[in-house]
Amino acid sequence: MRKLITIIASCALLVCQAYASQNNRSTEKRIDAIISGMTLEEKAHMLVGLWESGVPSNIISSAGRTHPLERFGIIPATMNDGATGLRMDTLRTGYPDERYYCTGFPVATMVASTWNDEIARKVGARIADEMLAYGSDLLLGPSLNIQRNPLCGRNFEYYSEDPYLSGHTAAQFIIGLQSKGPGATVKHFAANNQQSARINNDARISQRALREIYLRNFEIAIKEGDPVAVMSSYNYINGTRTCASPELLTGILRKEWGWNGVVMTDWFQPEVTADCVRAGNDLMMGGCQAQVDDIIRAAEDGTLTMDVIDRNVRNVLRFVLQTPGQNGLVPNYEAHLELGAPVALEAAEEGIVLLKNDASVLPLDSDETVAVFGIGSYLFYPNGLGCADINKPYTINLLEGMKREGIKINQTVDRYYNKFIEAEQVQLYETNTKTWKNWFFGYKMPQEAILRPFFIEKRAADCDKAIITIARNIGEALDRDYVEGEYLLSPQERDMISAVCDIFHKAGKKVIIVVNTGSPIELGSECIEKADAILLAWQPGQEGGRAVARVLNGKVNPSGKLPVTWASDYYDIPSSKNFPIHYVFNWDDVKPFGRESLKQTRNLGYTIYEEDIWVGYRYFDTFGKAVDFPFGFGLSYTSFEWSDARLEKKGRDAVKISICVKNVGDRPGKDVVQIYSTAPRIEGFETPAHELRAYGKTPLLQPGESVKMEWTIAYDDLASFHEDTMSWITQAGEHILSFGASSAEMKDSLSFTLSRERVRKVSNKL
Ligand code: BGC
Repeated sequence: MRKLITIIASCALLVCQAYASQNNRSTEKRIDAIISGMTLEEKAHMLVGLWESGVPSNIISSAGRTHPLERFGIIPATMNDGATGLRMDTLRTGYPDERYYCTGFPVATMVASTWNDEIARKVGARIADEMLAYGSDLLLGPSLNIQRNPLCGRNFEYYSEDPYLSGHTAAQFIIGLQSKGPGATVKHFAANNQQSARINNDARISQRALREIYLRNFEIAIKEGDPVAVMSSYNYINGTRTCASPELLTGILRKEWGWNGVVMTDWFQPEVTADCVRAGNDLMMGGCQAQVDDIIRAAEDGTLTMDVIDRNVRNVLRFVLQTPGQNGLVPNYEAHLELGAPVALEAAEEGIVLLKNDASVLPLDSDETVAVFGIGSYLFYPNGLGCADINKPYTINLLEGMKREGIKINQTVDRYYNKFIEAEQVQLYETNTKTWKNWFFGYKMPQEAILRPFFIEKRAADCDKAIITIARNIGEALDRDYVEGEYLLSPQERDMISAVCDIFHKAGKKVIIVVNTGSPIELGSECIEKADAILLAWQPGQEGGRAVARVLNGKVNPSGKLPVTWASDYYDIPSSKNFPIHYVFNWDDVKPFGRESLKQTRNLGYTIYEEDIWVGYRYFDTFGKAVDFPFGFGLSYTSFEWSDARLEKKGRDAVKISICVKNVGDRPGKDVVQIYSTAPRIEGFETPAHELRAYGKTPLLQPGESVKMEWTIAYDDLASFHEDTMSWITQAGEHILSFGASSAEMKDSLSFTLSRERVRKVSNKL
């Protein structure tokens, strides 16, 4: 019977493959016919985006579109931003009284924090459903640059410090999204790791760090997820702007990685148009007439050959011919946000990380009354700023979430904060009104409210526990400063934490800190030492307050794990010397090619990635540097036992490993198994203590229940990059595979021996 099923399945697969390749052939034939009938002017338009002006009315707002090609029945493809959901205006032309919203999902860092493939796919799929409802063809996401430094303003849009976790999570998101029809765009390709002077920064990186860290995330996402599009970045890599790098866009992306989608520039980058076209950057986005003229001129004077133009036009046509809009999708404007909300809630619940829980302070008992301090508890940040800040129907802050979940709140503190916020409203309104200026820089909370000791003493007498929220926000075009109130705690926050902890502790009561941020901040010794519990809420999307409340009251057992190392001190971070710590935004810096003085300024005009491959845990674990919380770390309300670790060779190219995970506590819960590899040591070539190669989250395990988890690891995925020979080498010798609960806690390990090294040569040097 099993044989029969296998035969039927193989036949079905062959039929599907034959059908797909016939389909591909007929699309390519159609493209041949279109290209041969196009004028040079039409081709030039096809390679340049259509900025909002001239766009037909009665469709949703977008970040950009492609040009129509009416003679051939081709309509514009619509692109929208979307690192935390679908970004569009709430207004639709011709419907002044209606408002159109999209679900606000947790930020990408939090999706990675779930370590759950299914969650990443579900979020992607739900965003796609809303895209179909509103008529969007291509999402300008996911963003998957490496979180090299915690000050980077766009970290919340990025997944992790680790290339595997970043690339694999992005791939799952893409698979979910593209399974519904619209396309995904991976961005910003590549090494877009800072926002200060973002248009003109030259990232100076070794070939090894590029291959193992800053390209590896993209390689995994592209090979596993096969996105429709790639967006090149604004920055330069080793002197060449990425959108004008044939080695990057044609050599590596297409030839080495075998991908054949469409490449677009980031919006209004200032590079020479012909250089981008030649490099393999198919689409100039947002697009302007001058770029169309550039292409026509370059074709006429021979700077650009027709072969190159046709190659790029083919890529754009392949993309526009398969969009939902081109294939008859008519938006119905019914986004069914009631279906998005549970997905946003589930993703937030799974991504929350319990960092500390002394004496099982959490979960709260149902009869406990809580005093909720910190302005952030009342004004939760759902996501970061810039093009990832979407128009969601609502945001549930922590207090609201706690009320909805039936947690008893002290009314006096609630009233005090609400009055304080009301009084600050005028100032808040001014800061937060959306103008061109604060599209990037707005949404600041007022300074922390002052709490007098007698006020706290009263609460310590009336309440059972205290919660304090510390909140931070930042976004596109700015990095956070290494100052108090940004990366560091503000003096008011320190005072508040100290006073609440001291007074509550004196009364024999416990204090819980909730951290609402898109990227690590200094928690400071006060928090770590004084607080009894720390819950990392990240920026958890529109349902965030509810998700945190459900972890607080124990309806949800936390299962999130850190996708990034939480260092004890900013200056312990390997990139800290090579990252701007205080940058004042200057409009001249975004002008074409920047100010001359900027070019010469270290960490702005150029940044030397001196730390090389030693990013995040690769550095901390290899060199034995202590951290506050290690990569992959997160506590649970239950406990797990891992047993029966096994390893066996699988064919000639891989090993299969497995382990059993059992819930040995008294609450249902999920655990995450992280697989790290350690390469054989060889003279003169340092490798990290261990590197993440795979992971898996268990299903919800009831007390006493167990599950077997297994993975196949390809030998080629254990390779290091040797820049002297420009090759990926998996060393001969003993390779160790460890089962980690975090990068700092290996619970078991097994090894295998490779008798011969495996070498893969590449040629594209950046
Ligand atoms: C951002 C991109 C975004 C684009 C379109 C640029 O400023 O860097 O991430 O997709 O704008 O809004």
